[in-house]
Amino acid sequence: MRNQKILLTGATGYIASHTWLALLESGFDVVGVDNFANSSPEVLNRLQRLSGQAPVFEKADVGDAAALDAVFAAHKPAAVVHFAAFKAVGESTTMPLAYYRNNIGGLINTCETMRRHGCSRMVFSSSATVYGAPAPTDLPLREDAALSAVNPYGATKLMGETILRDLGAAEPDWQTACLRYFNPVGAHESGLIGEDPRGIPNNLMPYVAQVAVGRRAELQVFGDDYDTPDGTGVRDYIHVMDLAEGHVAALRFLLNGRESITANLGTGRGYSVLDLVRAYSAASGRPIPYRIAPRRTGDAAACWADASLANEKLGWSARHDLVRMCEDSWRWQSMNPQGFEKS
Ligand code: UD1
Repeated sequence: MRNQKILLTGATGYIASHTWLALLESGFDVVGVDNFANSSPEVLNRLQRLSGQAPVFEKADVGDAAALDAVFAAHKPAAVVHFAAFKAVGESTTMPLAYYRNNIGGLINTCETMRRHGCSRMVFSSSATVYGAPAPTDLPLREDAALSAVNPYGATKLMGETILRDLGAAEPDWQTACLRYFNPVGAHESGLIGEDPRGIPNNLMPYVAQVAVGRRAELQVFGDDYDTPDGTGVRDYIHVMDLAEGHVAALRFLLNGRESITANLGTGRGYSVLDLVRAYSAASGRPIPYRIAPRRTGDAAACWADASLANEKLGWSARHDLVRMCEDSWRWQSMNPQGFEKS
């Protein structure tokens, strides 16, 4: 396993950058590619400080076959973790073609390049979004729950899983791991890397973090009349470093065996919006002013994982609790109030 090289696409993004560190710490070599469409080159400086080595990086777009060919020829990766994708639900409904081109076109291009270079192991960033709006009776969500796409972003994740399943059926040398992320939050404990959304954050914890640091006046809580304990939406928040370790476990599984897998990566616990607000306020020592607002279209009342398959098959489970998620997020946010570019 030592010194096997892993290619990360979308490598300077939030989840990929944390996975990069976890892989280096586990003894893998890593080569990253990104086009910086939604990330900052400053991530590479931070990774160098944290790992004590210069990150191996090539600027490339996953839609550019020639550029990917050059990366594969130079680095000969044993496996790929395909993170590169657009991920904003609302934006996907206004720019569907861009989402299909980048998320589906990029995946196909990456797989075709892998095949040309004899590489047939891929970990794919999927999402709990493939469960659509789950029924309360489906909770906790097992991997065999009903799947549906309720927006173009979700459709690209569902289609990505389908493409890899069909590829594995047609060409048995392919082994793939589709990892269905629940709600990744938090940051590396150093506070040097973390989530740095452009513009107004779509997701809850980055928004709360910006309220705590004073960049935004108040949080809007999207609905307090759901059928949940306090009426606000319930989600399975997972520390990004636990998620990163899940990728390391999935790569070991693919490289040591001949099996594919589709697995949830969550904690198996749900917290409400107000639980998270309270925990963040305690971790930061700052008030988090909020106002109850109408429900957000397309939101489920509650969504949390049955995470037992990943435990059984990958030997992985999440270790960090909500307090730690908030503490690490706050360290990152308070050390980098304007994110990577202006810190
Ligand atoms: C969202 C995406 C989902 C994606 C996931 C990635 C939508 C509709 N869904 O899921 O496809 O896979 O992110 O992490 O965007 N909330 C507020 N105020 C805010 C923001 C959020 O009250 O300003 C609430 C939401 O209503 C929800 C909870 O916080 O109950 C979590 O929201 P969010 O972080 O956006 O995640 P998801 O909706 O689970």
